[in-house]
Amino acid sequence: MSHSEQPLQGTENSFSETAKAEQHSAQASASSTPLAGASRRAVVAGTVGLGVGVAATLGTQTALQSAQKSQPKDEAQPPLIGQRVPFFGSRQAGIETPAPTYASFVAVDLNNGIDKDGLERLLRILTDDAAHLTEGKTPVVDQEPELAQVAASLTVTLGFGERIFEIAGVKKPSWLQPLPAFEKIDQLQQQWNDGDLLLQFCADDRLTLAHAQRMLLKDVRSFGRVRWVQEGFRRAYGSEKPGQTMRNLFGQLDGTVNPTTEAGTMNEYVWGEADSLTPWEDGGTSVIIRRIHMNLDTWDQADRPAREDAVGRKLSNGAPLTGTNEHDVADLSATNELGFNVIAPYAHIRRASAQKPEEHILRRGYNYDMPVSDASGFSEHGQTSGGVSNSGLIFASYQADPVKQFVPIQRRLAELDMLNTWTVPIGSAVFAIPGGCQPGGFIGEKLFA
Ligand code: HEM
Repeated sequence: MSHSEQPLQGTENSFSETAKAEQHSAQASASSTPLAGASRRAVVAGTVGLGVGVAATLGTQTALQSAQKSQPKDEAQPPLIGQRVPFFGSRQAGIETPAPTYASFVAVDLNNGIDKDGLERLLRILTDDAAHLTEGKTPVVDQEPELAQVAASLTVTLGFGERIFEIAGVKKPSWLQPLPAFEKIDQLQQQWNDGDLLLQFCADDRLTLAHAQRMLLKDVRSFGRVRWVQEGFRRAYGSEKPGQTMRNLFGQLDGTVNPTTEAGTMNEYVWGEADSLTPWEDGGTSVIIRRIHMNLDTWDQADRPAREDAVGRKLSNGAPLTGTNEHDVADLSATNELGFNVIAPYAHIRRASAQKPEEHILRRGYNYDMPVSDASGFSEHGQTSGGVSNSGLIFASYQADPVKQFVPIQRRLAELDMLNTWTVPIGSAVFAIPGGCQPGGFIGEKLFA
């Protein structure tokens, strides 16, 4: 293996189909790979509200995490060249599949004159080009065919806003509308809201992603216009063991308590197989994209114990403040020697934890860090500009039913969550994600059946 083909971290390994399959299954859920040195939590002044904590949903949390514990720990990633994620299937790729390094979420507004036939034409073209590109093949009218050759785990996922259903003359899912306002926290900017059609691109190579995005946007050009683009990133391919939970720009492990394929919770909550949920169409789900500004200037002012107290987890390895390892179940009823809750009443994980059986979402977010110009140097509390960095999280949440699953969690967090001290939602969009398709079919075909 040449130097350039070696993973950034880990040992050389053979590049076989089996290795790839194993890698994908390992990445589909977070593995528990605790780093050394769990730190002691300092008692932070102001940890009040003894007994105010909400009921722990330990059973569900255990189910969500049980499979994660059995994941392999020392598997290195195979070389990137040749890595492909199948495009065809009953569900679209890019949701349950491992999250690659780069993502670009593109919202398109369709032209006024588009009718049902035009929409079908567009979806057929997009499907055909996406299928080619994700397989490392050249779409029909690719003027840079060399760029299509490295698939780099590219996925293209389509999502529908309300207007797609209007144009198709089909009843939309009842939850497909803008989220309710969360007045205490929202500072939404119109430039990051809504959209008729979502194109979600994910890949481990930035050039592959840029090319795929350009190809599909050329398809879109005569049907509509780009409304917004949100670009995000995680750690580089090969820089961490497969399955490692991602870190956000606050330095936190973000995505520990998530549905997994292995535990069956992905089927229940993302694909709507839980008793209290119904998928809007076979193989369909939804995505909510919240653009959340993270104020790194005021975050700098918080010391480590305060940062850990705000979330209820350790920064070193993501363990709950009541545990040792990342996937230990948080004990929300535990109290310290003073009688205060170890995981504070305002801690993010307490407020976000499920209060009803269906309140689980798949968080598959990406960091963003935009260029800054004309910055004054420090961004005060609640400000979303002026600092030397313009950073945050493209919070992408997948669930069968946004109203039953996402909204109650977001309402609780809007009401009380210490993390709100440093975060401000600045964009919000909801899309229905249609099921996948087989060769010869196209994404969204059920709307035309
Ligand atoms: C920039 C904003 C946010 C940051 C930095 C953030 C960070 C975190 C961190 C560090 C954790 C603990 C580890 C984990 O399980 O992933 C967590 C957990 C969680 N967060 Fe967030 N989060 C943000 C916004 C949100 C929003 C908007 C929601 C939903 C409306 C949400 C829902 C959750 C849920 C459901 C959990 C798991 C709770 C449990 O332990 O049961 N988060 N988040």
